[in-house]
Amino acid sequence: MRNYSIAIDGPAGAGKSSVAKAIAKKLNFVYVDTGAMYRAFGLYYLRKGISLEMEEDVNKEVSNVTIEMINKDDGVKIYLNGDDVTTAIRTEEASRGASKVSVYPMVREKMVKLQQEIAKKTNVIMDGRDIGTVVLPNATLKIYLTASTDVRAERRYLEQTEKGIKVDLSEIKKDIEERDYRDMHRSTSPLKQADDAILVDTSDMNKEEVIEEILNLCRKKDIL
Ligand code: DC
Repeated sequence: MRNYSIAIDGPAGAGKSSVAKAIAKKLNFVYVDTGAMYRAFGLYYLRKGISLEMEEDVNKEVSNVTIEMINKDDGVKIYLNGDDVTTAIRTEEASRGASKVSVYPMVREKMVKLQQEIAKKTNVIMDGRDIGTVVLPNATLKIYLTASTDVRAERRYLEQTEKGIKVDLSEIKKDIEERDYRDMHRSTSPLKQADDAILVDTSDMNKEEVIEEILNLCRKKDIL
């Protein structure tokens, strides 16, 4: 049987994860949130009090970090060395930590291998920054999902506010800009659109429109 894979890359706040989750449900594919893996990886160092600025110190610990994704009835759970960190990785601190730890080649090598192993076994929709370019260069469908910085900042702001978390819009925008810069300018696997990826700009689209657009692209590739 043919193994299908859909790669979705793009900057923070473009809507990758909510769209990928909905498509996975529709197609009965496994959704792999690679950002969550880097977040859990970064959390290991934050919890140990090891600075993420020093590559050597980070490298020394890489073999001690185990990340697992397990499908449970109430969604996919992420485990760091056996500990459920599904909620703990969603803070702004963990997000910054992920962006920092993900610049290191040793960390990326370990995560890419794990992601490729998952994709070998099952049909996947995987989102991240290097899926179409590095992790799944032969993906059946590649999408580069983006939106303007202002729209992405507003979405993050609403998301946090709805959860009752008090945040500042200009702070969020600054954070997004810094993260974009780091993700796009690192030397190992920077975020960029793969040559054969289809650009979907979601600035003026709602979630349902984005899902429909991607499902149309799936039909064209005979995935649906
Ligand atoms: O998608 P996210 O915001 O949860 O990702 C957190 C950070 O992890 C992001 O700033 C960059 C990094 N990341 C990466 O380098 N490669 C991936 N495939 C996914 C995420």
